[in-house]
Amino acid sequence: MIIIIDFGSQYNQLIARRVRESHVYCQIEPPNVDMNTIADLNPEGIILSGGPSSIYEKNSPKIDKKIFNLGIPVLGICYGMHFMADALGGTVKRAGKREYGFAKLNISDPTNLFKGIEGYTNCWMSHGDSIKKLPNGFKSTASTENTKIAAFANKKKHLFGLQFHPEVDHTPRGSKMLRNFLFNICGCKRSWTMKSFADEAIADIKNTVNNNKIILGLSGGVDSSVTAVLINKAVEKNLTCIFIDNGLLRLNEAEKLKKTFQKHLKLNIRFINATNRFLKALKGVTDPEKKRKIIGRVFMEVFEAEANKIKNVEFLAQGTLYPDIIESVSAFGGPTSIIKSHHNVGGLPKKMRLKLVEPLKYLFKDEVRALGKALEMDEELIWRQPFPGPGLAIRIIGEVTRKRLTILRDVDNLLLAEIRNQGYYKKLWQSFAVLLPIKSVGVMGDMRTYENIVAIRAVTSKDAMTADWAKLPHSFLGKISNRIINEVNGVNRVVYDISSKPPSTIEWE
Ligand code: XMP
Repeated sequence: MIIIIDFGSQYNQLIARRVRESHVYCQIEPPNVDMNTIADLNPEGIILSGGPSSIYEKNSPKIDKKIFNLGIPVLGICYGMHFMADALGGTVKRAGKREYGFAKLNISDPTNLFKGIEGYTNCWMSHGDSIKKLPNGFKSTASTENTKIAAFANKKKHLFGLQFHPEVDHTPRGSKMLRNFLFNICGCKRSWTMKSFADEAIADIKNTVNNNKIILGLSGGVDSSVTAVLINKAVEKNLTCIFIDNGLLRLNEAEKLKKTFQKHLKLNIRFINATNRFLKALKGVTDPEKKRKIIGRVFMEVFEAEANKIKNVEFLAQGTLYPDIIESVSAFGGPTSIIKSHHNVGGLPKKMRLKLVEPLKYLFKDEVRALGKALEMDEELIWRQPFPGPGLAIRIIGEVTRKRLTILRDVDNLLLAEIRNQGYYKKLWQSFAVLLPIKSVGVMGDMRTYENIVAIRAVTSKDAMTADWAKLPHSFLGKISNRIINEVNGVNRVVYDISSKPPSTIEWE
């Protein structure tokens, strides 16, 4: 495994991805990680990430210098390189010219990191400081026009630094450099596969949960379903899943999920229909945050009441993913455990005192899907688009009523059928409809109509942190619009949302 020390770079997730794409497991740790933890993790190599600070700022993040004496190869990237230089007796200075963007890299030593890359290659720079004096035992291995020491190495001690970012696509040979670090320098094996992850995770869960009972809120989404299957393999009967129908699901979704779960997953599940309770609590509420809070609260009440019926529960499983626990704009605090409040189950009541089990917390969404595949789960379940916990309530702008839910369900059903038929379902991160709280005039036959407007939202994304509106063909959008207006009673106008995230969000509320 490889450890990445998080000095706050926006590219940290990308470094992690590059390592894992090479089938090597890696984990991101904060700079204040203690050396014993590192020794226990026993990594083959360490990568010090970039970061927004300057090494000379008072509170710039630092890691124990002993990291360079562990005999483990270290690669410093940008700020990570500055830290290494400074810690080992070199000097770092504000560069005369800030270097940002493409630069031509002149490789003077095509060994180690640069093995197989000779002469010149492009690289992506983003820095204000650079190395002025090499630490003892180091040699410059590449330069650019503005930066004399664009890469350095102390081969004897297996310490390396790159001023530029090898993890971004703009450094075309960057992946090769990282692979050189992983395989030639650190001697990693390509052993990280989803099968091996599954085996290790199952053993780990067995160990943690032992013979105790564990519960899980199953939503029908990819994350909670994969979590359930994984835990079920580890503890079988001791896992109880609780599925709460909040009345805010899509057309026939609860029944469909019930069938899928029973047929394919063989899980121990309690189904609870709490529709009336949720809809009663939402009556008359139009404020988006209030809706979310009410849904979160009722969910917890229903979940807790059901959980209390199961005796001696010690653990609660959650399908938290890696992007949820990485604070994306973390300055240099390293990964935090703050989960965006609306993205988790809603925060456990403290009195439940359950210990959390989160086996997916180091995975990205596409890795979770690969894991589902390795666990031989149903393709349809693995490829489900994300669906928010508060469900259709946050896609009905204004009050949530049974009548409006019916309209939106019919639109949503038709929309998704078309999206699937045209082969867009897997390509889009999400595609859904939003029911607006205004009406507009139309004409149907010879009749004037005054009916609802729906907006179609379709986005592409990798992890929902950013998203782009999908450029669906106009003819296809036209077909969807025609079908909705003709087939769904109560809708006479369809609009398409052409906003990206940021500054908009994916959901409308
Ligand atoms: P936004 O609207 O913030 O959404 O761009 C980002 C992603 O999160 C989903 N989402 C939720 N998921 N509970 C969830 O489990 C929620 O309360 C929630 N709100 C938004 C959204 O569908 C998108 O994929």
